[in-house]
Amino acid sequence: MNKVRVAVLCSGGGTNLQAIIDRAAAGGIPSGELALVVSDNAGAYALERARAAHIATFVADKKSIPDRAQREQAILGALEAHGIGLVVLAGFMTILSEAFTRRYGMRIINVHPSLIPSFCGPGFYGLKVHEAALARGVKVTGATVHFVNEVCDGGPIIAQKAVNVEEGDTPETLQKRVMREAEWVILPQAVETVCAHILSEQKE
Ligand code: GAR
Repeated sequence: MNKVRVAVLCSGGGTNLQAIIDRAAAGGIPSGELALVVSDNAGAYALERARAAHIATFVADKKSIPDRAQREQAILGALEAHGIGLVVLAGFMTILSEAFTRRYGMRIINVHPSLIPSFCGPGFYGLKVHEAALARGVKVTGATVHFVNEVCDGGPIIAQKAVNVEEGDTPETLQKRVMREAEWVILPQAVETVCAHILSEQKE
């Protein structure tokens, strides 16, 4: 069966990448094939996860290539060389330029650790999102998977899942619950949904 070649872009630990790898290994992503993991951080543990799963890796490191445009060119070259049809941002901590997002219009998705439009946009990433949610005193938060366009966290929403905030939560405990109950569930599902949609468009 024809499959969409998927690249996952990560900057850190890569637990969302792992969720996609595990779901694919369990047969849950029949429309996609994990073809490449890209990182802007040579020390990202996500790269170890990729190697352990025998997935090709490509590094465009922020320290060795400080210029964002040059890094994006390097990444675009790798995506093209690997025939990538879907780009998944999974804890990728660089905001992509409009030129990049246009190149892969409706072919880039991102997971964000809140219910967009709450706690999103420039400056809201990683633990900072959960710190802001706790500071505001919300009782429910969650995660969102959305298409990526030129507006940071502003593209069309694909999936969301709510997660309760609990008494005594710290940013760390809340982050872990949001990952376990929401991100690791809806991101692999969205990868399959979008790959299946891309395949169905190719048949038309
Ligand atoms: C995840 O919580 C992801 O949603 C968030 O960073 C974490 C990466 O963890 N992404 C953002 O905040 C993007 N705005 P991981 O490397 O273990 O998947």
